[in-house]
Amino acid sequence: MPAIVVLGAQWGDEGKGKATDLLTTEDSIDFCVRTSGGHNAGHTIVVNGEKFATHLLPSGILTPDCTSVIANGVVVSPEALFRELDALVERNVRMGPLVVSSNAHVIASYHSTVDKVTERFLGKNKIGTTGRGIGPAYSDKINRVGIRVADLFDEELLREKVEAALEAKNHLLTKVYNRRAITVDEVVDELRGYAERIQPMVADSSLLLNRALDDDKTVLFEGAQATMLDVDHGTYPFVTSSNPVSGGVCVGAGVGPTRIDRIIGVIKAYTTRVGSGPFPTELFDEDGEKLWDIGGEVGVSTGRDRRCGWYDAVIARYSSRVNGLTEFFLTKLDVLSAWDRIPVCVAYDIDGERHSEMPMTQSEFHKATPVYEHLDGWGEDISDCRTFEDLPKNAQRYVRALEEMSGARFWAVGVGPGREQTLVVS
Ligand code: GDP
Ligand code: IMO
Ligand code: MG
Repeated sequence: MPAIVVLGAQWGDEGKGKATDLLTTEDSIDFCVRTSGGHNAGHTIVVNGEKFATHLLPSGILTPDCTSVIANGVVVSPEALFRELDALVERNVRMGPLVVSSNAHVIASYHSTVDKVTERFLGKNKIGTTGRGIGPAYSDKINRVGIRVADLFDEELLREKVEAALEAKNHLLTKVYNRRAITVDEVVDELRGYAERIQPMVADSSLLLNRALDDDKTVLFEGAQATMLDVDHGTYPFVTSSNPVSGGVCVGAGVGPTRIDRIIGVIKAYTTRVGSGPFPTELFDEDGEKLWDIGGEVGVSTGRDRRCGWYDAVIARYSSRVNGLTEFFLTKLDVLSAWDRIPVCVAYDIDGERHSEMPMTQSEFHKATPVYEHLDGWGEDISDCRTFEDLPKNAQRYVRALEEMSGARFWAVGVGPGREQTLVVS
């Protein structure tokens, strides 16, 4: 299986890091590639009880014989990159090689400044971004005033590009947001300060990956963010500024769609969301608190509490459709062991009408209330189960029922955060 995509099927934090780690260690993945987003991601991997969190780095970095690639579609903060690498060196982690695309766009400190002031200005309408400068960096890319990694090596060119990037921003910062102007010198100094260290990692990642696929190497594209945070297919405007769906992987890596063999959607057995925006199955009662507590639903990147709700099969079907999923990886089934009856959203009620597919407009989605079916729980700890058949009958039935309504087959089920706590569904 040479090219595999792992992506988020809900609003993020589904357990993509764990799925990537599992595939990387078990299926001898040669390349692990990030293709969109930046250090807004937070992916947790638990190895032998030891916890790691990756942000900008692909999770494959923890596997020494896997090459990690930050491809052209990613927005790279050199400061975050080296902070993350240094932290792993400090923990004596044996890392594999790392490649950074020459075409990836750079996040400089002015991007996070603009991100934060924009959010403050939006007040109660804020998106609830991670404040990492992701949106402003992608805006610059689309506005054609972005800085790319290759630009760091030519001071004259870099200066010209920084001038162009700052012109409109300084007007905005000083005249609208009442902030001080950012000087070209400070940005050039900041970015040139990283040039020497990043240079040995820089390559044409599209060429590298296509050659690897020609040579029958196995390439894993590790998704960040998720389908419902996609700028085209998510709950706009409460989304991130990239395309975390499967189509975005091809653009973000310079690899054609015909080369992809498997597309795995990672999905929790319930739903969570960080930041603002609609969330039909969100719970504001004791069940929500219990999911939050048992699931440990606190953000890996920002430490914010995640909003919690029941499984939403409408979203699962939508994700399956817009990504062309070949399969799902269902995570956190163990968290549901505490319930006797488990509600699952099978459709929405919108103004008295039943919708079994995602409504066409955002305004309809804002009004969607869940139609629930109640499935029997299993009422016992399942975290020590190691095969699907080890699961209590009701847990097996629950997984099969979800599979039936979600639009793609279930490949594996997570019963705990550890590498070994995954059951392959036969
Ligand atoms: P990602 O951003 O999609 O990689 O997910 P996060 O790392 O932000 O959040 C997922 C959380 O769930 C992490 O704390 C994981 O260790 C944890 N996790 C993943 N799979 C399972 C599972 O099957 N059961 C339990 N209990 N925790 C899991
Ligand atoms: P992983 O890869 C959950 C959310 C933010 C905010 C919106 C926009 O760990 O699943 P941004 O800073 O990207 O402009 O914020 O997107 N968000 C995430 N939520 N998991 C993530 O990543 C996220 N990355 C961004 O909370 O609502
Ligand atoms: Mg996360």
